[in-house]
Amino acid sequence: MPAATAGTDCDTVPSMRVLAIESSCDESAAAVLDADAGLLAHELHSQVPLHREFGGVVPELASRDHVRRLLPLVHRALDESGTAGPELAGVAYTAGPGLIGALLTGAALARSLAYGWRVPAIGVHHLEGHLLAPLLESDPPPFPHVALLVSGGHTLLIEVSAIGAYRLLGATRDDAAGEAFDKSAKLLGLPYPGGPQLAALAERGRPGALSLPRPMLDRPGLEFSFSGLKTAVLHAVRAQPLTEARRADLAHAVQEAIVATLTAKALRALDDTGHDTLVVSGGVGANRELRARLGAAARARGARVYYPRVEFCTDNAAMIAVAGMARLEAGQHDGLAIDTHARWPLASLAPLAAAAAGPPPP
Ligand code: KG4
Ligand code: ZN
Repeated sequence: MPAATAGTDCDTVPSMRVLAIESSCDESAAAVLDADAGLLAHELHSQVPLHREFGGVVPELASRDHVRRLLPLVHRALDESGTAGPELAGVAYTAGPGLIGALLTGAALARSLAYGWRVPAIGVHHLEGHLLAPLLESDPPPFPHVALLVSGGHTLLIEVSAIGAYRLLGATRDDAAGEAFDKSAKLLGLPYPGGPQLAALAERGRPGALSLPRPMLDRPGLEFSFSGLKTAVLHAVRAQPLTEARRADLAHAVQEAIVATLTAKALRALDDTGHDTLVVSGGVGANRELRARLGAAARARGARVYYPRVEFCTDNAAMIAVAGMARLEAGQHDGLAIDTHARWPLASLAPLAAAAAGPPPP
């Protein structure tokens, strides 16, 4: 795996270098990762302002914007890293899960560039990218570990035995944690995406002023359920006039319910597996209260929590490069037909050692 920062490599044999493209939702991104020198470039364009007036991601608009943004981002990443396309060991792209039209834009571009440069292409699972993002840091987590993957689309607890060896421990039955943040935020009149805004408002709320349900918390097991939370928020919003103080108290109670649930289940997963390393990734991993609570709880039991840096908690291409490089190193690559998957169970990925190589690169 690559070092975290660029080093001085005087070898005459060039090290493996991968270009990665991410376009599964509302971030367009490109990155160049070198096996020895680490991350050389990462470029990102966020579509958040584009979708804000609609209160959520509009898939057609997302696809159109990716088409406009991706190639300039790729150009900048190559330029910044001093890389010529044909020198690459391969081009990695997010092949799913995600919005299908959005995925197709990045996949078609990546596959075509690889074809033109006569280098292999590899479709990457977006969640494998999130899981491996902490490997970009100078102090990467050891294996095996438990990963808590909390984003706008997913809430998963996964046992990660090695790169490519993932066992699902628990998932949400309905809304994802990020979705619960965003939907509650919308009910409180906060603009999209509401998670970070709700977290900011929560800081002004009074602890314990209001209490909201924490479904599944009292039950054994590692499943989550967050859909009841937004219903409770809706009732609370309608019950009394929404003064500034009450909005802040409600925001505090929402964050408290989500953070308490995620913390309790993550610790339970450490207990169940016997592991003492927890990795947290995905957009909700940027939440400060979650980080503080998990950190304190883990310390109290001699465990350690690892995160990617905040900018790599949310969607980015650097994490896709890490996953793509690992799979290319293991001899995997795709044929010329472009396959994308709106849905794609993580557990269906082959472990790296057993991964069947595709046909020879064109
Ligand atoms: O991983 P991500 O960028 O995209 C997905 O693949 O979903 O995660 C985005 C989600 C959104 O729901 C956003 O509101 C939430 O992460 N989020 C936060 C915070 N920052 C981002 N939620 C709570 N607190 C935050 N600080
Ligand atoms: Zn994501």
